[in-house]
Amino acid sequence: MKEIEIIKPDDWHVHFRDNEILKAVVPETSRHFARAIVMPNLMPPILTGNDANEYKKKINKAIPNKDNFNPFMTIYLTENTDKNDLKQSYLNNLVFAAKLYPAGATTNSDSGVQNVSKIMPILETMAKIGMPLLIHGESTDRNVDIFDREKIFLETTLGFIYKELPNLKITLEHITTQEATLFVKNANKNIAASITPHHLALNRNAIFHNGINPHHYCLPILKREHHRKALIEVATSGNPKFFLGTDTAPHLQHDKENACGCAGIFNSTYTISILSQIFENYDALENLENFVSINGAKHYKLETNKTKIKIIKKTNPIKFKKYLKIGTEKLVIFYPNFEIFWEVKL
Ligand code: DOR
Ligand code: ZN
Repeated sequence: MKEIEIIKPDDWHVHFRDNEILKAVVPETSRHFARAIVMPNLMPPILTGNDANEYKKKINKAIPNKDNFNPFMTIYLTENTDKNDLKQSYLNNLVFAAKLYPAGATTNSDSGVQNVSKIMPILETMAKIGMPLLIHGESTDRNVDIFDREKIFLETTLGFIYKELPNLKITLEHITTQEATLFVKNANKNIAASITPHHLALNRNAIFHNGINPHHYCLPILKREHHRKALIEVATSGNPKFFLGTDTAPHLQHDKENACGCAGIFNSTYTISILSQIFENYDALENLENFVSINGAKHYKLETNKTKIKIIKKTNPIKFKKYLKIGTEKLVIFYPNFEIFWEVKL
């Protein structure tokens, strides 16, 4: 048996949803992570500091007493975002960042931004006050192949924002391509990227292995193996520009196993186990702590957490729970198709 100890991780990208799902999934995150950035793509979206504050209260209620967990709230940018509310909400610590969803790019993004030039005054204000911009980086041009949407977004939109506002702190979220790793590596210190466990674990074959696998469908969609390898390389290298954002995105089982299945993978329950296994498989366990506990905090100019967690390597593969039950409904938990021996000691 082998044991490692690391600084308690943070998750810089989660979806908690609302109501019964929220109550069920918040403890899955608060058990393992000290802090998380909470996505605002509810129906209706979190548009103002007040919305974010009300949402935060619901999240705080769902945190078990034993857990010491801090949710960081975000505002969903639209072409009508109130710049003053955004600014005051940030300066008063009601919200931590703003999220840019290109309209139609993903789940509940219809109220997002159609034309980025319309929100440039907002982004300028954000750059001035140091407020981070979180980006879902995919082109929404329906003529662009789904596997190329991230690459085209870098060329058409991110390049433009970066050129206009090099001082804006940007997180390119859940990156999936070699091109994105290069963009971030070559950009200045204000640009960093988050990476999910599923994009590190799987390539696009997983969606079609022995039939169609809706539980491996997410956006941005899984890519070819050479892209996955590029993600592995930057995540395991210790490079401070790359850090964990799980993009844990719960959808009920029947909404995934559906003629029009929802995009999103619910992974928070075993994220740390899966990442420990991946980092061990690539002989990089010494950089696990950088990826899950240090790099993100540095990007956001925060201190790292004071507490630590232990992760233990078992002699036999751990048995994953398949579902989280929500009343009579089920949420399928992400399992990556290879054996996992690492378990978080709680
Ligand atoms: O797969 C995804 N699911 N990607 C996203 O960007 C959104 C998320 C969701 O909210 O379900
Ligand atoms: Zn997400």
